[in-house]
Amino acid sequence: MTIADVAAAPRRRPGADVPPERVPSIRRYAMTAPTFFTVEYAINPWMDTSVTVDTHLAFNQWETLRQTYKELGHAVELIEPIVGLPDMVYAANGGMMVNGKAVTARFTYPQRAGESAAYAEWMTRHGYRPADTRHTNEGQGDLLVVGSIVLAGYGFRTQRQAHDEIAAILQMPVVSLELVDPRFYHLDTALAVLDATTIAYYPPAFSDPSRTKLLELFPDAIEVGSADAYVLGLNAVSDGLNVVLPAAATGFAEQLRTAGFRPIGIDLSELLKGGGSVKCCTLEVHP
Ligand code: ARG
Repeated sequence: MTIADVAAAPRRRPGADVPPERVPSIRRYAMTAPTFFTVEYAINPWMDTSVTVDTHLAFNQWETLRQTYKELGHAVELIEPIVGLPDMVYAANGGMMVNGKAVTARFTYPQRAGESAAYAEWMTRHGYRPADTRHTNEGQGDLLVVGSIVLAGYGFRTQRQAHDEIAAILQMPVVSLELVDPRFYHLDTALAVLDATTIAYYPPAFSDPSRTKLLELFPDAIEVGSADAYVLGLNAVSDGLNVVLPAAATGFAEQLRTAGFRPIGIDLSELLKGGGSVKCCTLEVHP
């Protein structure tokens, strides 16, 4: 599927009140336990080093997320956490695997730089040959697969120039989207992929030209309001039917239900202190 095919995909009739049938598919996820999770530096507006983190609670909340995936029938593989890399729990940033290709993350901040090698090594052990980019890219934090295209964020972490490198490595079309609000510093904080043609997003997180682009590509997208966006409601993981999302995003959950999805709320309050939630903790191994 190309960008044009996504735009041409069949749409619901305006006014149709029956949502389309949503079909789940089995997914493969990689996760890293928050064993060494703390907030000891602040590299995004959610992080406050004076706030204490309950590591035990963080672990239990993360474990609930892992169990939820398993109960949905998904495969969850574990990556070994490393002491001194507190943000490693946000596995989504570890890289990108899709189309038989892989990209190694190149982090913006030195505090996270050590994670790249750990995730690259994991990808290598799983049969990939991860390629480096010259410009920064924070993996699936900013790179989201929708059908056969990749939506790519820039503005805070991943550099716009990395998008071209990534398109070449993955051999997939990449659509660049500019993020403008520092609270939504990764694409996966402002946009959720629900299935191969459906997304949800928070429009104010994007520049005007990027909003126009999203409207053209996804006229049926779910637009999420501020209350849900500000609890990182869009940091969600969907299998095509079941959408695992932060429990506090109750408005978005209702929108999902109306659209025929099955929302499953998870409380990841401790991990929100680092500026991440469900999707951040989940690195999807795309087929
Ligand atoms: N503290 C981490 C950072 O600022 C949080 C990363 C969240 N991950 C994500 N995929 N949005 O880098």
